[in-house]
Amino acid sequence: MTNQLDKKSQAWSALFSEPMSELVKRYTSSVFFDKRLWQADIAGSLAHADMLGHQGIISAQDLADIQRGMAQISAEIESGAFEWKLDLEDVHLNIEARLTQLVGIAGKRLHTGRSRNDQVATDVRLWLRGEIDLIGELLVELQKALIEAASEHTETILPGFTHLQVAQPVSFAHHLLAYVEMFARDAERMADVRRRTNRLPLGSAALAGTGYPLDRERVARSLGMVDAQGVAQVCHNSLDAVSDRDFAMEFTAAASICMVHISRLSEELIIWMSQNFGFIQLADRFTTGSSIMPQKKNPDVPELARGKTGRVVGHLMGLITLMKGQPLAYNKDNQEDKEPLFDTVDTLKDTLRIFAEMMGGITVNAAAMEAAARRGYATATDLADYLVKKGLPFRDAHEVVAHAVKTAQALGVDLSELPLATLQTFNAAIEVDVFEALSLQGSLAARNTLGGTAPQRVQSEIARHRARLT
Ligand code: ARG
Repeated sequence: MTNQLDKKSQAWSALFSEPMSELVKRYTSSVFFDKRLWQADIAGSLAHADMLGHQGIISAQDLADIQRGMAQISAEIESGAFEWKLDLEDVHLNIEARLTQLVGIAGKRLHTGRSRNDQVATDVRLWLRGEIDLIGELLVELQKALIEAASEHTETILPGFTHLQVAQPVSFAHHLLAYVEMFARDAERMADVRRRTNRLPLGSAALAGTGYPLDRERVARSLGMVDAQGVAQVCHNSLDAVSDRDFAMEFTAAASICMVHISRLSEELIIWMSQNFGFIQLADRFTTGSSIMPQKKNPDVPELARGKTGRVVGHLMGLITLMKGQPLAYNKDNQEDKEPLFDTVDTLKDTLRIFAEMMGGITVNAAAMEAAARRGYATATDLADYLVKKGLPFRDAHEVVAHAVKTAQALGVDLSELPLATLQTFNAAIEVDVFEALSLQGSLAARNTLGGTAPQRVQSEIARHRARLT
């Protein structure tokens, strides 16, 4: 008996009398990229078959045959022995055809009450759910690396910038913890996307539901598509279930935001590593040399991360544009959801992994950071605050300090290097305790509000993060 699925021109029915050209076959096939969904496809099929058996729609023997066949197919795919055929279009038809080849008639019963439309939507959701979990773990690793690096630098002074002009001193730890906050929110966003991804389309069939007495909740439960209370999560409208890909858009949006955070960090690493700053060094294994300039050590990894961010944001645009013109329900356009989604996942995972490793091993030049803070009059605000404490209105204090900075600039010294007598010419209220306020350390220690850069505050933030991540 010839397997009907063996020839793509007959993959659906005898209705087709003309074979496809090779070009059209290649154009419409997805197997060479969607085969990565094979585990989800088999898991979905087994849950569907189990339910068909339980509902008496297929026999216990059919179910056993399907289970045996799927076990063999899994082994074949894992070992690389499975032969993927372009003629069979996609992962779903490839696996189903092999099943029928292996177990005969039971294989042909598997597709009862199911369509590739609800099948593919289920597969992508199941696969993405697993990837979101891995991404969650990688985000934890990255946060931990940043927290450990921060714990060594709560007293290391870095010029904080606005407009890339020296603004006020902050600790390097405080700066690193800003990224921990961003990555913590990225993890929250991922967890939120996971909730909406983890819902079952299967049982919607092609678009309208099916006449077979399916138990969709049972399928959802066996696939782990349940909420925190263990309640089965099933898509409640068959048209929506087979056709929307908002979970993919949402995931790619969350991934884009995360990559934008990485990209900002990358930009800083690149700037900090340039000779004009000289704040940090990346470990050699994250840099490359130049083929012509022997002195060069280039920050290729952060540069590529910054570049790949564009690619991921592009995938988001691609997916959103893919959906915008589609009438309900399923359209083949949806097959184009996979490559951008897969590439987004691969890019994000690699980037998070490499950053966790890289951020754990950066060398900090604390002296260069501190010198830069000094050069930029980073404690000017502290002098103003000092005068406010002596009774001056802030606006007047601001003006007094502007004069002081102008004088210090003309003399080529820091505010803290001006003699007390000179400082007193700007305002008589200035006394010797001004030098405490003008020191970088004093400036840091003063910012002890919740969320501020004072070493004590930052220590307790580190403790909070550590407790949160264990
Ligand atoms: N490979 C297809 C996809 O990725 C599977 C669904 C095909 N359904 C269909 N009616 N042609 O979307």
